[in-house]
Amino acid sequence: MPKDVEHRTGLSRTLYEEFRARIADGTYAGGAPLPSTRALAVERGLSRATVSLVYEQLAADGFIESRAGAASRVAVGAAQAGAAGRAKHARTRPTAPDRLAGSLSAIGRHIASLKLGDPSPTAPGEIDFVYGPLSGNDFPTLTWMKALRAVERQRSRRLEYEDPRGNMELRRALQAHLSQARGLACSVEQLLIVNGSQQALDLCARLLVDPGGSVVVENPGYRMAHHAFEAYGAKLLCADVDSHGLVTERLAALGPAQLAYVTPTHQFPLGSFLPIARRRQLLDWAAERRAWVVEDDYDSEYRYAVRPEATVQSLDSRGCVIHVGTFSKTLSPQMRLGYMVLPVALVGTFADAKRVTDRHAATGVQRALARLLEDGSYDRHVRRIRRLQQARQRALVEALDRYLGEEVEVQGAASGLHVVAWFRGLPATAERALVDAARQQGVRVHPIGPSFHPSKARPAGQRSAGLVMGYALLELDTLEEGIRRLADALRQLCR
Ligand SMILES: Cc1ncc(COP(=O)(O)O)c(C=O)c1O
Repeated sequence: MPKDVEHRTGLSRTLYEEFRARIADGTYAGGAPLPSTRALAVERGLSRATVSLVYEQLAADGFIESRAGAASRVAVGAAQAGAAGRAKHARTRPTAPDRLAGSLSAIGRHIASLKLGDPSPTAPGEIDFVYGPLSGNDFPTLTWMKALRAVERQRSRRLEYEDPRGNMELRRALQAHLSQARGLACSVEQLLIVNGSQQALDLCARLLVDPGGSVVVENPGYRMAHHAFEAYGAKLLCADVDSHGLVTERLAALGPAQLAYVTPTHQFPLGSFLPIARRRQLLDWAAERRAWVVEDDYDSEYRYAVRPEATVQSLDSRGCVIHVGTFSKTLSPQMRLGYMVLPVALVGTFADAKRVTDRHAATGVQRALARLLEDGSYDRHVRRIRRLQQARQRALVEALDRYLGEEVEVQGAASGLHVVAWFRGLPATAERALVDAARQQGVRVHPIGPSFHPSKARPAGQRSAGLVMGYALLELDTLEEGIRRLADALRQLCR
């Protein structure tokens, strides 16, 4: 067989792996002579060139020693090298949990025990009311490509590491934007660019909470935030949420805590905003305990009725609030760009932690985003998609009203990219059955149940079945069709 065909069919690779395995497991002992290339070629029906190539590779990798005019021999001590090589190779394949070669760290064990849940992908033709993804059609592709091209044209001669706090052009532009759009009073020095809010939460969990320390979280709440804190061994103190958001009067009763994670502008998932009195109560609670408050401002661009109210950060006179924002809701969750507004006292430590974690966020996208913020195209884009999302939300709410009427109560429609639909006549225990019945009609809906902390979920009998309904992915007619089918599913279920 010609050499290139043998190569293409992987024969040389197979032979290489066979020799490496035998050397590794000691079948071919250190110092033992190998067959000549000619003899092996005849024996295996391969070309001599292919066998020579395999020997050369084995020699280059240290498994054999070749000397001109003498037989090649297995390298002494290659058994271990082979075993290490195999281990390196094996790492590319997932290892069953019971076959770990070593033990996991305490953090590793926490992470392994998290039930992160991976929803199966939307099947073709299904109408998916998922919350989280955005529609690719809404992305400002041309503007973004123009910005990226401009940035690439100005690539500097020295490709240096960036400041771990983020690119200066972006931090300047962001500071101006946040002051104008959110009334945030902060200096450029207080800004840290991160790879999405999730990294901000990860840094807070590692830097501000001791293993075994307590963190107040909203329940129901953003489970990815719960996971971020639990991953490092924090104990979660689940605080109730009512129609005005976090019930701050009951915080003190939860006991000591090092940090509170809150979504005050748009409680996730119930959608309320935290009134100013509760914001002050939260800050007083934090001050009494010298606790931190993490304010997750993930979707404030989508207030449809009124402008978002003052942030908790802007009410904070003691420097205990860490404000977190993201571009996952306005541009793309795939971009992995978010920011933190840090109290001055935390800046150095967070910058160092960011540096040892991943140096910094990618420079190109940071600079491209800076351009969008500077030339006003980001604001124009946000105004455009706010109108689009509002139209989708209106279509969804109207369709829910038209097809389900009194059977459904909609919560959290003042803002955001999702609403909660409560099914009045249906107990929480029927949530799964509702999801399955909808799936039979080609509709994916997502129960609110998983937003409750599993150990602190209210007894299912105390609430109705609820769905977290995202609409950012769907066109208006599809939204309507989806709700029509959901109504059919409910009828079948109740029959
Ligand atoms: C409450 C909340 N915070 C933050 C985010 C954004 O996370 P990230 O910036 O890591 O994409 C989301 C996304 O769904 C969210 O629901």
